[in-house]
Amino acid sequence: MVKPVKVGIAGLGTVGSGTVNVLQRNNAEIARRVGRPIEIAHIGARRDNPNCDISGIKVSRDIFDVAEDPEIDILVELIGGTDTARELLLTAIGNGKHIVTANKALIAEHGNEIFTAAHHRGVDVAFEAAVAGGIPILKSLGEGLAANHIDWVAGIINGTGNYILTEMQEHGRDFGEVLKEAQALGYAEADPTFDVEGVDAAHKLTILASIAFGIPLQYSRVYMEGISRLTTEDVKNADMFGYRIKHLGLARDTGNGIELRVHPTLIPKEVLLASVSGVMNAIMIEGDAVGPTLYYGAGAGADPTASAVVADIIEMGRGLTAEHEERAPYLGFHADQMSQAPVLDIEDVTTSFYVRLHVQDQTGVLKDITQILTRHDISVEAMFQREAEADEPVAIVMMTHKVLERDMNRALDEIAALETVLEDIMRIRVESLDA
Ligand code: HSE
Repeated sequence: MVKPVKVGIAGLGTVGSGTVNVLQRNNAEIARRVGRPIEIAHIGARRDNPNCDISGIKVSRDIFDVAEDPEIDILVELIGGTDTARELLLTAIGNGKHIVTANKALIAEHGNEIFTAAHHRGVDVAFEAAVAGGIPILKSLGEGLAANHIDWVAGIINGTGNYILTEMQEHGRDFGEVLKEAQALGYAEADPTFDVEGVDAAHKLTILASIAFGIPLQYSRVYMEGISRLTTEDVKNADMFGYRIKHLGLARDTGNGIELRVHPTLIPKEVLLASVSGVMNAIMIEGDAVGPTLYYGAGAGADPTASAVVADIIEMGRGLTAEHEERAPYLGFHADQMSQAPVLDIEDVTTSFYVRLHVQDQTGVLKDITQILTRHDISVEAMFQREAEADEPVAIVMMTHKVLERDMNRALDEIAALETVLEDIMRIRVESLDA
């Protein structure tokens, strides 16, 4: 009789229960794929979850019991958070367990340390579910596109933020009102500022960039801006120029360094990414051989995320008997072959900009603004002025040609200092995504 692959699951929340369900539901088919059955041999969870049936499975209330269980081949970490999860993984690795995790924050912030420990112990670490839930984006990037030099990756990788932006775009609703609804849908992070201030997307982008370019995980180097300052006025203005505002994670190899940035972005309506609405995720990858590619699907939720977790378990189950050196490297590039390309400061990034100002309706304001832009060599591609009621401030909206962010910042500082310009200047980067 073929020996089953024994899996221990730590955490029985949304993703944990989804993982149990998918493993049970597709058990026979999964065994055909692996060549051996997969057995859930031990679950560590503080409490049971009514959304799955764990009768007959050994359960411990202390998740560390799973990491210590000599029976377990693969520990599946689904508890979230970074401190306990890091300790759990290092304990399990020390005990020779292979690891599957859905924990983006853990990999983005502690992945380098975890991989080093795993490499020394000769065990695998897989984390497909950490980025864009059910979309097999890490496997696509690290395996399917492995022949390519990756030029850039751009993705809608936070469903909560995309849901909020979609509601603002399609129904003109206000940010705060929609956020409450998004939280009720159950997609939002435990701390919803992670969604709206870009932290969650930055975690995911960190991982994507490392696999795209073979650079160490550098979460602290990601430039991060959220969506909380966006207004429906800007969404409407962007629409008038032929753009949608999306919160993107962008990683680009410029040849002089790597751009790692998460921020609201104007993208042309005709780019497919612009049509991705609601909680869905989508990622565009441009490779030198394949050209532009697009991946779309559910970025969260019990079964979609379990789809990625179980795929990792299957892949690991197949390779359990292989030598460590024969297995794929954690980040798709061998640890001793990582690139030392620097991550660029945001001020060294060149993009076009959308700028919206509210100004007092006085003669000469526009001249003052354009003079400052000219002095900084910033060329305006399009501009319009929205009519206002008498004595109300007037909105001036413009799109610039490409400009170095440092120059844009200097120009905007000078513009902000003009007495006729109100404080709430909005500037949003624009990306054509090669449309
Ligand atoms: N809070 C995340 C999102 C969940 O909204 O996309 C998936 O990582």
